[in-house]
Amino acid sequence: MKAKTPRTHSPSVKIRQTQMLIDGRFCDGVEGKTFATINPATEEKIADIAEGGEKDIDLAVKAARKAFAEGSAWRKLAARERGRLLFAWADLIEKNLEELAALETLDNGKPITASRTGDVPAAAAVLRYYGGWADKIHGQTISIPGPYFTYTKREPVGVCGQIIPWNYPMDMAAWKVAPALAAGCTVVLKPAEQTPLTALRMGELAMEAGFPPGVLNIVPGYGPTAGAALVKHPQVDKIAFTGEHKTAQIIMREAADSLKRLTFELGGKSPNIVFADADMDEAVEGACGAIFSNAGQNCCAGSRAFVQEGVYDEFVDRLAQRTAKRKLGDPFDPATEQGPQIDRAQFDKILKYINLGRQEGARCVTGGERAFDRGYFVKPTVFGNVQDKMAIASDEIFGPVVSVLRFKDLDEVVGRANNTFYGLAAAVWTRDIGKAHAIADRVQAGTVWVNCYNVVDTAAPFGGFKMSGMGRELGEKGLENYTETKTVTVHLPA
Ligand code: NAI
Ligand code: MG
Repeated sequence: MKAKTPRTHSPSVKIRQTQMLIDGRFCDGVEGKTFATINPATEEKIADIAEGGEKDIDLAVKAARKAFAEGSAWRKLAARERGRLLFAWADLIEKNLEELAALETLDNGKPITASRTGDVPAAAAVLRYYGGWADKIHGQTISIPGPYFTYTKREPVGVCGQIIPWNYPMDMAAWKVAPALAAGCTVVLKPAEQTPLTALRMGELAMEAGFPPGVLNIVPGYGPTAGAALVKHPQVDKIAFTGEHKTAQIIMREAADSLKRLTFELGGKSPNIVFADADMDEAVEGACGAIFSNAGQNCCAGSRAFVQEGVYDEFVDRLAQRTAKRKLGDPFDPATEQGPQIDRAQFDKILKYINLGRQEGARCVTGGERAFDRGYFVKPTVFGNVQDKMAIASDEIFGPVVSVLRFKDLDEVVGRANNTFYGLAAAVWTRDIGKAHAIADRVQAGTVWVNCYNVVDTAAPFGGFKMSGMGRELGEKGLENYTETKTVTVHLPA
């Protein structure tokens, strides 16, 4: 018998905004359509949201175009004032932290403690970080032969279409919007259909902070309709996307006609490498957080744990024991460590992979089934005796399922770690500084952690090698996506 879902003692979260933001105004879609957003912990509808289609995207893009036109309020605004608006927006987000955290937890299912101490403060930090950059985006002077003076300017790319996923709704919005606005671009943001609520509330706060109309437009809706219309729109200069690599392939094809600038942040099958000389307590705790945080719905999830043969059996046992102690349940309970998966499709996909793992002969040491009789909860699952070619070891599951793989030595583990088309993140646990650096040097990944995992900060670039992405977000690097470099050469009269 499965335990009943704990009653969610959700505080009465007020849903203030369900309409789309176009040209500074919240409005219904042109066709008046709506879609339901669901609470994944209860499978109940939270609210009906205005559904954007091609016509709404067109209006939003035109508003963004107008806001970007020469002589517009936004173009005339001093860079420092753009920064001030981002600071003001960050302040409002912090002021409304409890409300935003509750909305995020309601819509996404992530534990309230994570929303409060992670997602919401991190979104404010990203806005503030890029607010600080706004008046520090400089060109260079370059010496060339002859009587010339050459300098570069960095100009905003223009109208940016930004398409984001549901796993970190507020943070993904902030990662996309902040550098674009700091650079002087204008934006049409399409939140994921599963999690539109916090983006819309953030939009309200942006208007309160004082961004001019049309600078930030937010159109909720589905990928193949609203998302595709944004990608195809001839007046959009750039698309920034986070999600599945297969969606990125569609976007790349669709964007070819207008040669839009593209940046992608995609998935992973990140290797988490544990050498026998590692601090075992830390490595077990680290491996647990690496895969199970955010219920495994994390692009850099440490889903392939490579463990050296001398400590393999002990490690699997200890990881399973630690995993079985994780507290699943009501996302609004501050003690909850893991909430539900985002929706029925992801829930089904994860359970399908768990069954495949068993069929292919891996040993399910703990978990391996749904939890509760309601809500999309999946027990954190550890597989031992996994072979590299099994589906659970090669496909991105995007759920709380870790494959523990046995390895002998450094050369072997590097080869196996790199034997994937992904290259987002990797980690190594060892007390040997030489091995740590060798892994950092040889593993193909945009981020490598040594004796830690999932440490992501707004100041440090983040992104993928190979099919895990194109371009980098965050840090100074993240600004490059939103500027064009112009070279000006002046003839100096003798
Ligand atoms: P997805 O890539 O379909 O959705 C992400 C965003 O793209 C959403 O806003 C969606 O509406 C939009 N989209 C979908 N199709 C589009 C199209 N044709 N044109 C323009 N926009 C489009 O990802 P989905 O279906 O939510 O999840 C499927 C798998 O993708 C997951 O199981 C996971 O493996 C991976 N994923 C990876 C993420 C990451 O952070 N790297 C985030 C979300 C999903
Ligand atoms: Mg999809």
